[in-house]
Amino acid sequence: MKSPRKFFEPLAIGAPQPLREPPVRVERMIHFVPTHLEKVRAKAGDMARTVDVILGNLEDAIPADAKEAARKGFIEMGQKFDFGSTGLWTRINCLNSPWALDDITEIVGTIGDKLDVMMLPKVEGPWDIHYLDQLLAQLEARHNVRKPIQIHAILETAEGVKNVEQIALASPRMHGMSLGPADLAASRAMKTTRVGGGHPDYKVISDPTADGGPRTSAQQDLWHYTIAKMVDACMSAGIKAFYGPFGDIADEAACEAQFRNAFLMGCAGAWSLHPSQVAIAKRVFSPDPKEVAFARRILEAMPNGSGVVMIDGKMQDDATWKQAKVMIDLARQVAAKDAEFAAAYGF
Ligand code: GLV
Ligand code: MG
Repeated sequence: MKSPRKFFEPLAIGAPQPLREPPVRVERMIHFVPTHLEKVRAKAGDMARTVDVILGNLEDAIPADAKEAARKGFIEMGQKFDFGSTGLWTRINCLNSPWALDDITEIVGTIGDKLDVMMLPKVEGPWDIHYLDQLLAQLEARHNVRKPIQIHAILETAEGVKNVEQIALASPRMHGMSLGPADLAASRAMKTTRVGGGHPDYKVISDPTADGGPRTSAQQDLWHYTIAKMVDACMSAGIKAFYGPFGDIADEAACEAQFRNAFLMGCAGAWSLHPSQVAIAKRVFSPDPKEVAFARRILEAMPNGSGVVMIDGKMQDDATWKQAKVMIDLARQVAAKDAEFAAAYGF
């Protein structure tokens, strides 16, 4: 294990100082853009104004013969638009693919100063992060990039899940992690062909009744265990957890339920694969104004954060004060970015 002092040293002479505290940013949706398509690229500037993060996707869903066009398209998009406070991310190809090295070197060499986060797929252990960490430092030094590019891992292999805590702690560059339910299902030999969401056969059923009447059953959440494990690994490392893709674009209710479960369990955002999912993510990952109003009452009733009070018959103490603070801190960040929510929260 590296000594704590060395942990925060730049990995290359001339590379920027690693971040001690990650920047505070609202990242309710990471919007995926297939950058090999000219038509989609042309709209990226407008799209960037409606999302928190815009991501040029170079990996899965990009055909092998369009990989270079997607990389070049992403670079062109990064050069052409001013993204303001919207995050600019890319998902590169995985490290053992023929494209990863050129993805990393060409992107950092051209738009390294504009890129906020590099998303790395199929991360299996801290060694993948260490490799990218070192290479990014060398490239930042070579191209005079002044702010460190952060790394976001996709948690989408059984081995990655097994090593999730070490991945979260692997580098000060770690921004966070997203659950990748499609690759993870394949890696674990789960018997589902869906991208996220539940499955009608993964359920609990009530006991048989004496009269042989119908038994009630309810679908369970296939992703509960992994999301919980990911959230604990991320939060204990001071980084952020995200739900990844929801593939059934037409089923907005199921997408919303999946996003909301992730939000309630501690996730900061999710991927949007289609403009319709942007609105869902915005709604879900911004705290509910009614919850914010209640949280405010808790903070007001306990100005120094300790003691015990009753509000509407509910006990409040130091721990619920902290819960309320999580809600209010997030609401303030969202309000600072989004006038619509500032009004709804009364900030
Ligand atoms: C995302 O990359 C997934 O595999 O679900
Ligand atoms: Mg994947």
